[in-house]
Amino acid sequence: MRASGVVAPLEEHGGDGQRVAAALGLDPSGVLDLSASMNPVAPDPVPVLARHLDATRRYPDPRRATAALAEMLQVDGRRVLLTNGGSEAIALVAAEVRTGWVDEPDFSLYRRHLESLDPSGPRFRSNPHNPTGVLAAPDDRAGVWDEAFYPLATGRWTRGDVDRGSVVVGSLTKVLACPGLRLGYVLAPDPDLVDRLARRQPSWSVNGLGAAALPALLTPVDLPAWARSIAELRRQLVDLLERHGLRPRPAAANFVLVAGATGLRSRLAQSGVVVRDCTSFGLPDHVRVAVPDADGLHRLDAALEETDDR
Ligand SMILES: Cc1ncc(COP(=O)(O)O)c(C=O)c1O
Repeated sequence: MRASGVVAPLEEHGGDGQRVAAALGLDPSGVLDLSASMNPVAPDPVPVLARHLDATRRYPDPRRATAALAEMLQVDGRRVLLTNGGSEAIALVAAEVRTGWVDEPDFSLYRRHLESLDPSGPRFRSNPHNPTGVLAAPDDRAGVWDEAFYPLATGRWTRGDVDRGSVVVGSLTKVLACPGLRLGYVLAPDPDLVDRLARRQPSWSVNGLGAAALPALLTPVDLPAWARSIAELRRQLVDLLERHGLRPRPAAANFVLVAGATGLRSRLAQSGVVVRDCTSFGLPDHVRVAVPDADGLHRLDAALEETDDR
């Protein structure tokens, strides 16, 4: 697939493959979107969702899904709040604490949802860090840990900071590779916080299809095996990028940060591959590249060949 045109750097988020396809006149279904970092080895969620479509005729009831998730996380269900993606989890916690702190660069939604920034407030921090993909050191502390990518990096659901009084937010969107379904969670140190956050949550915030399908979507989850496969795919991605003269930073996540990549996003987009521009992180000459599956690695290799030739 070849196209020509200009691809704007991204303002705040990845996952803009469809927008780029429209801007370049490419077939959206043929675009390889490596700008949002999903689990590249998750089973296809669509057959499971197809078995639960009937749920769309009823108002959602998230209780079974919450219990299934709590069982996976091995915590008391009263400490878990199911949310409309990790982004709602972040918005709810930020609204509750109002003032917090973010060491930049980090994921933009902490800053966006906090009323004010003050270093005396709880620090919001992604682990592994977005956009570098580096895991926090064992003695690093934060008030709010965003573990959106932690299960995929480590094979464990959580580092366990909730037992030290931190709040943890997570993204099933990433783990189950279903960004359109919008599922995430808050794992709280105590049930009172879950109650307060639940009162802030709009009614029926978690959609009925997601709530009905979640127990079945969680059944095949094998985090240790998935994390091993992702680590192997990441090694192949790093080799591939280095063969093309790029310098990815060492990372533990299902994405890597590449410095010295000015213009790479636009050049790759001409071949139908979309990577994350990092200007909004304050890193204008960097791109973030999600770890693709085996087919995606071939696709990326071919696209880089084309950009090398251009
Ligand atoms: C660090 C981090 N946390 C949370 C999210 C939100 O994920 P979602 O709302 O799709 O579950 C993202 C999405 O990119 C992210 O990068």
